[in-house]
Amino acid sequence: MTDQELLERADATAGKAYAPYSKFDVGCAVLLRDGTVVEGVNVENGAYPLGICAEKNGIGTAITQGYGPGDFEAIAINASPCGGCRQWLLELGFDRVSFRNRGVVVTLTPAELLPESFEL
Ligand code: THU
Repeated sequence: MTDQELLERADATAGKAYAPYSKFDVGCAVLLRDGTVVEGVNVENGAYPLGICAEKNGIGTAITQGYGPGDFEAIAINASPCGGCRQWLLELGFDRVSFRNRGVVVTLTPAELLPESFEL
C-alpha cells in the first residue's frame, strides 16, 4: 500500500462522514505495520464541541481492534490534521502523515507537524 493509495482510501472514506453541520467531510486511512488498513471519518453532533475528528475515529477503531503505540505506520487524510490530532499522531508513533492541503499533497512526520511537542 503506497501513500498515494492510502490517500485514495481516505478520499473514498470521506464520503461516509457524518458532517451535517460543517458540511466538511473528512476521511482518513490508517496503515498498520501488519498491512491492515483501518478507516475513520469525522462524526459531528448537534452539540457542536462533541464532534470527533476522522483521525481520532480511525485511530480509536484501530486501538479497539487491539493495536497500540508502535503498530501505526502511516496515515492519510483528505485534509490537513488539526492541532489536537497532531498530538494523537505523535503519541501513537506514526512514521509519516500524508494529506492534501489546498490541493497540494504533502507527507511529513508527526514531529515536523508538531515541533517542540508536549510529552509526559
Ligand atoms: N476535522 C477532522 O475530522 N479532522 C481534522 O484534523 C480537522 C477537522 C473535522 C472536524 C469537523 O467535523 C470538520 O472537520 C470541520 O471542522
